[in-house]
Amino acid sequence: MRIDIISVLPELVEPFMQESIVGRAQRRGLAEIHIHNLRDWSVRRDRRVDDYPYGGSAGMVLQCEPIDRCITELQGQRHYDEVIFTTPDGEQFSQPMANELSLKENIIILCGHYKGIDHRLREHLITREVSIGDYVLTGGELAAAVMADAIVRVIPGAIGDEQSALSDSFQDNLLAPPVYTRPADYRGWRVPDILLSGHEANIRQWELQQSMERTARLRPDLLKQ
Ligand code: ADE
Repeated sequence: MRIDIISVLPELVEPFMQESIVGRAQRRGLAEIHIHNLRDWSVRRDRRVDDYPYGGSAGMVLQCEPIDRCITELQGQRHYDEVIFTTPDGEQFSQPMANELSLKENIIILCGHYKGIDHRLREHLITREVSIGDYVLTGGELAAAVMADAIVRVIPGAIGDEQSALSDSFQDNLLAPPVYTRPADYRGWRVPDILLSGHEANIRQWELQQSMERTARLRPDLLKQ
């Protein structure tokens, strides 16, 4: 799949996309992430893309024209399944949304900034508005990075062991069970005996019990869903 990220601070997102699973998925040809500097579509000599809000409130607003020019140019090159805008008043990002978006061919993520974007863009160009949580970030770049990471890691093959993305916390509304590695005894802190038993069926059963117990204790809201 292809993700196009539009931002006024591309240098904030770029390094993140070269690293770890997202970077590797790109090098393996499983995902393509293109980051665009919104200022490249500015129609002003000073490359500015924002202006004062009508009505006299504080802050700056991203203007229609650069965003429209950028999105229209991209849409002229290929079809996009979604044009997503990152904003704290959007739909809450979640594992099911990451799974769903990972099945798309091409998506655009427009990073919000300042007071936001001219509302006409939200009415006419944006197809989906997404928040990563009930707090306000300085800009949408971190939100776009969070989304790209969560989306790319569930693409089959992005993680070495395909099972492991499916067994993540939240994939079945259950938190993941605890994990351990060598040594089996560290300062007297012992790995649960069951994990050393070699008894596959009992181990899976134990993991499920642990998942349910942790979910009931830490995130009872997930069990109600
Ligand atoms: N931009 C600012 N805050 C945000 C949030 N919580 N989620 C998505 N985009 C944002």
